[in-house]
Amino acid sequence: MGALLTIDDVHVRYGDLVALRDVSLTVAQGEVVCVIGPNGAGKSTLLAAVAGGVTPWRGSIRFGDTEVVGLRPEVVARQGLSLVPEGRHIFGTLTVDENLRIGGFIHKGRADAKADYERLLELFPRLRERLNFPAGRLSGGEQQMLAVARAVMTRPRLLLVDEPSLGLAPRIVDQIYEILLDLRQREGLTLVINEQSSNRILKHADRIYVLRGGRIQLEGRAADLADGEAIRSAYFGFGSPATLEGVTP
Ligand SMILES: Nc1ncnc2c1ncn2[C@@H]1O[C@H](COP(=O)(O)OP(=O)(O)O)[C@@H](O)[C@H]1O
Ligand SMILES: [Mg+2]
Repeated sequence: MGALLTIDDVHVRYGDLVALRDVSLTVAQGEVVCVIGPNGAGKSTLLAAVAGGVTPWRGSIRFGDTEVVGLRPEVVARQGLSLVPEGRHIFGTLTVDENLRIGGFIHKGRADAKADYERLLELFPRLRERLNFPAGRLSGGEQQMLAVARAVMTRPRLLLVDEPSLGLAPRIVDQIYEILLDLRQREGLTLVINEQSSNRILKHADRIYVLRGGRIQLEGRAADLADGEAIRSAYFGFGSPATLEGVTP
């Protein structure tokens, strides 16, 4: 299987602050790759760089055969890439139905938009039941489902998901991951997922990258990292203060 996404030596700065340095990462077609790192590690910046939201000052990002550095977000999206942003960014006063239709706007005019919508409701029966609800009245888990559904409305090949677990109970997190893995199975989606903790996702991911201080500290197959030891030292770094002991990354 060839790489669907190839990130090569990417640096991102915000003014004087270097948010990513020497970041290289590959994702094969059909893979589920998790990027784990503490708050401020650069996880969201990495996804933004891929999606065209920030422009690296060095390095290359190829989606399939296309160099996406320098392309505008909507142009990148049209290549078949979709981002579920951190914090979901759904429109609370609009209904579920309206939120989903907004997701289809990027491809408005596509003849099969209606078929896309029907397919989506089959994938998310829970949302079908709630179509006329204001999205703001959904539970946190349902809002996350809505954010994912909106992002896959356009049939992306690659889905970037920024901290889907944030603020959700463990049982709901497992449900969200079931949906994501079901999407991979049924739609052939490739997934890159950011998380702050590897706790519940090691069993779902194929490969893991640990990002800290804007650098990749560790990369490996989830199966090889299952005991969590290597992840812990990469996540906290060596000589981390004793107060961090007992914290599970
Ligand atoms: N728009 C921005 N302007 C300036 N600094 C930013 C901006 N976005 C993020 N940063 C900084 O870049 C670093 C990485 O942030 P981010 O990518 O959001 O990390 P994470 O998603 O892992 O929490 C942090 O130090 C953060 O404060
Ligand atoms: Mg973030």
